[in-house]
This record gives sequence, structure tokens and C-alpha cells, in this order.
Amino acid sequence: MSLSVVILAAGKGTRMFSEQPKVLHKLADQPMLQYVIDIANELNPKNTNVIVGYKAKEVKHALSHEGVNWILQEKQLGTGDAVKYAIPNLIGQQTLILYGDVPLVKINELKKLIKTGEKGLSILTFNKINPTGYGRIVRGLNGVEAIVEEKDCSDVQKEINEVNTGIMVADTKHLINWLSLISNINSQKEYYLTDIVALAKKDNIEINTIEADSEITISGVNSKIELAKMERAIQLKKTNALMEQGVTLLDPNRTDIRGNVDCGKDVVIDVGCIFEGKVKIGKNVTIGAYSILNDCEILNDSIIKPYSHLENVKVGKKNIIGPYARLRPGTETNDNVHIGNFVEIKNSKIGADTKINHLSYVGDSIVGKNVNVGAGTITCNYDGVTKHQTVIEDNVFIGSNSQLVAPVTIGAGSTIGAGSTITKNTPVNELSLSRAKQTSIPGWEKPKKN
Ligand code: UD1
Ligand code: CA
Repeated sequence: MSLSVVILAAGKGTRMFSEQPKVLHKLADQPMLQYVIDIANELNPKNTNVIVGYKAKEVKHALSHEGVNWILQEKQLGTGDAVKYAIPNLIGQQTLILYGDVPLVKINELKKLIKTGEKGLSILTFNKINPTGYGRIVRGLNGVEAIVEEKDCSDVQKEINEVNTGIMVADTKHLINWLSLISNINSQKEYYLTDIVALAKKDNIEINTIEADSEITISGVNSKIELAKMERAIQLKKTNALMEQGVTLLDPNRTDIRGNVDCGKDVVIDVGCIFEGKVKIGKNVTIGAYSILNDCEILNDSIIKPYSHLENVKVGKKNIIGPYARLRPGTETNDNVHIGNFVEIKNSKIGADTKINHLSYVGDSIVGKNVNVGAGTITCNYDGVTKHQTVIEDNVFIGSNSQLVAPVTIGAGSTIGAGSTITKNTPVNELSLSRAKQTSIPGWEKPKKN
């Protein structure tokens, strides 16, 4: 049977206490609504219709929405009212209702729901120890008879633990008919989608239920506390997937993956690391504690020591990076490179066997093979208007605390004396230095206090 999907996402999310629409709050760096759209796409529906209301434009722009219809519900008059807006687009024989704030719903449970819904109506339910706040599934001798909202429940109905997750699938023709019949005569003066259940019963339509097997998969996000819980659940899924592939996480509860991580064999990740964007890690790589890796590739046998920050970089084989290294966009290191503490590198290529071990800034540079960059070396790449390139050829030794004023080329095999400010290209294999000669003044006395 063909399927249309409706995702309810018009609400503001008052309990988030935020100007931002609730469904744009992020989980693992992705708006929560994106998860729901992706799940809908996995079902290959005829179309997916997202009902938006609060800051509709913002919601639309924040998401990748190929093949999604955006439908504006001007006033949030209830879930039943929301679905009515989608009626002109309901081209599938069945209609599945999803919620923009329920991002972890399971695809196999939805498939079961759709299958059992072929008879007319099927509801995803859950048995909740504390059902407060949810609509209750009211059963009679012949099965489900109605869903009653918490605020409309009798004391007896409040004791029911079987709750409505909100997710349901209905035969489209029947749904459209039932939607025309629901009213807002209830304690919240809202058009309840859930009222279609009693209408289905009246029409003698078979009503089925599928029970969700875990609470988190049907949980909505209504507050920052629930957002944090959902984030943990998503993180656990991601870290479990890594461990199942053989990655050693010293503590999966202290690893955050806000994108995709792809690891080779024998990768070890210490606590507190954050992965963003696309990260590709080769074999036998160790990532030290509290490192942040954003969109990078690290080749085999490299070690990233603690507290390093890598953004949009490529690290070669057998490198040692950090601790406390900052590699900025456009950095590429060849094999066996050492980058030490408090070294910042930006938009530079670093040749094999080169060492930049302490307190340096290297920007817009091409550094050759087997170069030793002494502590405190700075490439002065910016003249206040334009960035310029520094070239350091193979086998160069740069003495500590040197400034290389770009554009400048340090010739192969040359040595720069410590403390030099180099403004001109240096000849190959020679010592260049630009220091004032050291003098001592005989008989000089310290100033005295009066
Ligand atoms: C709804 C169900 C309840 C179920 C619960 C599960 C109804 C009447 N009740 O209650 O049985 O147990 O979900 O979480 O359906 N929305 C719109 N437009 C509106 C109203 C709501 O798009 O006019 C969206 C909201 O943004 C939200 C979702 O629909 O994403 C649910 O609405 P909400 O008002 O939170 O329903 P509940 O009271 O939680
Ligand atoms: Ca809700």
C-alpha cells in the first residue's frame, strides 16, 4: 500500500524556554526534526508533509528538505486541526502521523504499524509505569474503543498504563472523513487527533496497536532536561556502533559524536573527546583525552595527544600531535611529523619528518622535509591587509624565537640563528641571522630609589 507521512511540528515548545522553535533544537548537532524527516524518508512514502507554525520560515530553512512539503498551520488548534491542513496532500492510501519532537522512533516498529494499519487504523502504544500527561488507550471487550486525553480522563481511566505515543497510521480515506467529524468540545478546547479512534470504533473499523519496546524510542522532547536525555540516548547509539566495529572507547559516556566517525582497526579514544562533521581515522591511532576533531582525516599509527583541537585537517602516518596543539583549516602533515604543545598551524603543508614542537605559529606556509622549527617561531603572514606565504625548504633548522616575515623563502639546508627576524630569502645551506650584537656596558649601575 502507498503511504503519505505527516509530521507534526507546529508547536513552539513553551517548556524549552527558548526563542528557537523546539524542533530546531539540536541532537548530536542536527535539528531534532531532521531525524524524523530522515526516518520518514526511509519508509519510501509517496510524500512527507511537515506541519509548521511557530517560526515556520526558520524551520524550513534549517533543514534539508528534498521532497518534503511544508504546510503552514497558522494557529495551533490541536493535533487533529494540524493534520487537516495536510489533507490536500494525502495521496498515499495510508497516512502515517509522526511527531517532530519524537526523534528516536524505530523504523521496524513503524513498518509493523503500517502493516497492521492496512485494516484501517493502528496506534503505536507504550505501557508506561507513570502514564501522567499521555492519552490513555481505553479498551473494551472487543479491543480499543477510544483514546482519552489525560485532562479528560475519569479517575478510573487515569489508572490505565497503556498510553498513546501519538504515532499512528490510518487508511487515508477514512482519516479524512473522521477529521471532518472531530470537534473541540473537551477540556483543552483543542481538536484532538486522538478522537478519530472512537470514530473508527463507531464505523466498525479494525483498530490495532503495536507496543513500542523501549521508552526512549517513543519519548518526546519537551524540556531541556528531556533534550539532554535524548542527546545521551543518541550518543549511546553512536558510541555502541563504534565499539561494535572494534574501537576502544575508554568511557563511552564521555565521548561525543556530533557527526560521523569512521575508524580503522585498533583505534583507542580516551575520555572527553568530541567529534564533529566527518572524521576519518586510520588503523592503530590513539586520540588523547579532551581532544576535539572536526572534519579531519588521520592516517595510520598517529597519536593525537590530549587537549588537541583539529579542524579541517589531514594528518599523515606516524604523526605525534599535541598535547595542546591547534591545527586549523587547510593544515596537511606528511608522515612522521611532530607537532607539540601550544603550536598553532593554519593552511600549511608540513613535510615528512618535520618537527614543530613548542610554542609556534605557522600560517600559510609550505614546510619541507626534515625541518626543525625551534620554540617560539612565528611566521608573520599578515601585513594588516593581505596574507603572504612562507616557504621553508627541506632540512632547514630554525633557531628559537625567530620571526619569518612573509613572503619569504628559507633556502634548503639553511640555519636561522635564534632570535632572528628574517625579512629576506635566505641562501641554501648557510647560517642567516639578524640579531643585534650582544654588548655589555662596563660599570653600569642599577637606578637607585631616592
Ligand atoms: C499528544 C496526544 C496524546 C499522546 C501524546 C504523546 C493528542 C490530542 N494527544 O498529546 O494522546 O499521549 O501526544 O506525546 O493528539 N502540534 C501541532 N499543531 C497543533 C498542536 C500540536 O503541530 O495544533 C504538534 C506539536 O508541535 C507537537 C505535537 O503536535 O509536536 C503534539 O502536540 P502536543 O500538544 O504536545 O500533544 P500532547 O498534549 O502531548
Ligand atoms: Ca507533547
